[in-house]
Amino acid sequence: MNNDPYSLAGEAAAALKAAAGLDTFDVALVMGSGWVPAADAIGQVVAEVPFTDLPGFAAPAVAGHGGRIRVVRTDAGRHALIFLGRSHLYEGRGVDSVVHGVRTAAAAGIRTIVLTNAAGGLRPETQLVGDPVLISDHINLTGANPITGTTFLDLTEVYSKRLRDLVREIDPSLSEGVYVAFRGPTYETPAEIRMLRTLGGDLIGMSTVLEAIAARESGLDVLGVSLVTNPGAGLAGDPLDHEEVLQVGRATAARMGVLLAKVVDRL
Ligand code: 6GU
Repeated sequence: MNNDPYSLAGEAAAALKAAAGLDTFDVALVMGSGWVPAADAIGQVVAEVPFTDLPGFAAPAVAGHGGRIRVVRTDAGRHALIFLGRSHLYEGRGVDSVVHGVRTAAAAGIRTIVLTNAAGGLRPETQLVGDPVLISDHINLTGANPITGTTFLDLTEVYSKRLRDLVREIDPSLSEGVYVAFRGPTYETPAEIRMLRTLGGDLIGMSTVLEAIAARESGLDVLGVSLVTNPGAGLAGDPLDHEEVLQVGRATAARMGVLLAKVVDRL
């Protein structure tokens, strides 16, 4: 049994290459809740591997989070690894499980990763439900960090400015925002939402930041995109509900899929 997370990722990458019959991939995308329906627009399916067939991956616990890796070929001939589902800190398998997909992508030789998620909007006056927002920076309030030891890692530009600018060439209407991550699985209280607005957050969710840190540790360029699925608690009055998140994902799948397909071919 292998206990080192980086060599476990190396084993997963080797298994993935064998399953796909490919030796290199151009980009990886992690599809958060609400984003899975958009995956169909990115390219033709070359292979699909359940998480449970690969070293170090576990089946996600939450409905709508998928649980497999799809390899696709785009119209322009690029190969993308698409993670249909991710591991979250709140599922209790620890930080190494949360970032295993990112480390696997890095071990497979990928240099660019697209991290997507569903998020609550903290500034409903500017952010419409159903819109994608480019993540410009994050505030990590999960209490966790994927890096252990004494390596100090610069996080001045976690989310590549070059990639954000490139996506805005495709869709100039896209705004940018600061993504705050809580551990979950509870949604926030209205008081916490007011606090996060004061702290400078624009988006709130339960994923992405640990993966982005692990990606930077491995030298990957990161593009982060949130789909705003609802205002934060207390900003609109309705209780929050995971089904609503999935519903917004289904309703916006075509737009998100077209956007990601163009992004993959421009990277
Ligand atoms: Cl309001 N909070 C969190 N933590 N995650 C979310 C969300 C809110 N909306 C979608 N995902």
